[in-house]
Amino acid sequence: MVSLARDSSPIVLAMVGLPARGKTSIARKIARYLSWLGHPTRLFNVGNYRRAHLGTAQPHQFFDPNNTEGRQALLGMAMTALDDLIGWLSSGGEVAIYDATNSTRARRNLVIERCQAHGFPVVFIESICNDESIIETNVRETKLRSPDYQGVDPEAALRDFRARIAHYARAYEPLGEPERSYIKIIDVGRQVVLNRIHGYLPARLVPLLMNMHLTPHPIWLTRHGESVFNEKGLLGGDSDLSARGDEYAKNLSAFIRERAGDEHVNVWTSTLRRTIQTARPMTQNHVAWRALDEIDAGVCEGMTYEEIRQQMPEVFNARAADKFRYRYPRGESYEDVIQRLDPLIIQLERQRSPVLVIGHQAVLRALYAYLVDRPAPSCPTLPIPLHTVIELTPTAYACEERRFQLAPAVQGGDSSTAHP
Ligand code: F6P
Repeated sequence: MVSLARDSSPIVLAMVGLPARGKTSIARKIARYLSWLGHPTRLFNVGNYRRAHLGTAQPHQFFDPNNTEGRQALLGMAMTALDDLIGWLSSGGEVAIYDATNSTRARRNLVIERCQAHGFPVVFIESICNDESIIETNVRETKLRSPDYQGVDPEAALRDFRARIAHYARAYEPLGEPERSYIKIIDVGRQVVLNRIHGYLPARLVPLLMNMHLTPHPIWLTRHGESVFNEKGLLGGDSDLSARGDEYAKNLSAFIRERAGDEHVNVWTSTLRRTIQTARPMTQNHVAWRALDEIDAGVCEGMTYEEIRQQMPEVFNARAADKFRYRYPRGESYEDVIQRLDPLIIQLERQRSPVLVIGHQAVLRALYAYLVDRPAPSCPTLPIPLHTVIELTPTAYACEERRFQLAPAVQGGDSSTAHP
């Protein structure tokens, strides 16, 4: 089977920044994005090493740069995590994200030396944030919920965390020319500075980092209403909605009106008739994206799964053996679908108001896997039934999900169990 060509030289992305500057959230976003695009990526969070080896309840004094014992212990954790990172890259990993404050030049030099000794280039990613309200929200939403402050009175935790930040701030040195290759993100993407960013992979991160924001908004994913082809169990095509599909379109419009209230909703469809017809009862304008068109089943378009099994058993069996990578003759694989959805993900990341995506089974599986951080190869069997709205609300570290089944009910139409 032909796999997608990609540059897979190992690389280290090292985060830099004071506590509560969103480093972990940015690191997780990068990891999710690159893994989804097919680059084996792993996060090494030094805070987790500290908690696992030194315990969670460390008061702010522990982080004081003048506390020799604390400094040694923290350095030990940072180096243990770095050794694991190097070990992972040496055994075939591609992108390792080193999530730590790395707030002094001495520490960053150590990271560069160790990585370069193994031939791994380092790109630093610094998050600078001077907006007090962003820092405050970050502390309340992530830090106070962290195991470091479990069972601690929130106000006492807040005081302690602020003191911890102050310890780091006293010794903080921002990135500069000595670090050579870096990306600086100022106030969550308001300004992005690139210095000596070369190569395919670091450059690919830039649009993602430039479009980051913290405004929470729901993303609704739904397949089109039942189509004439769905009624007959036929793949692909460009058929119209069935009578039940038309009814779903009306119910969907009422549902979105009720959930969104007065908020502006971006409505996105594919260029295929069944999604455009599903958007028709909505009052909002909609944008038709070719990237959202259903997986191209090539020579199997217009056939049922049973016909493929009988008439093209080699196609049926090869797809069953590796549904993620299998490319239909003259058609696409799930892996191909992910690559063509990449620009749409960046558009999705940019939006600050709710988005309704009216798509198809395979493309929505691929989008859903990105949004909820499921391994991309698992996406071909994720359940995305007809006449169901999936409401996703991304938060700093996760994505909240609710599902709403709207009338009318339909039989079948979900290949997560019907087809291997
Ligand atoms: O059956 C509806 C459909 O959207 C087809 O057009 C498409 O080929 C199929 O689902 C994708 O699902 P699977 O990858 O499970 O075959």
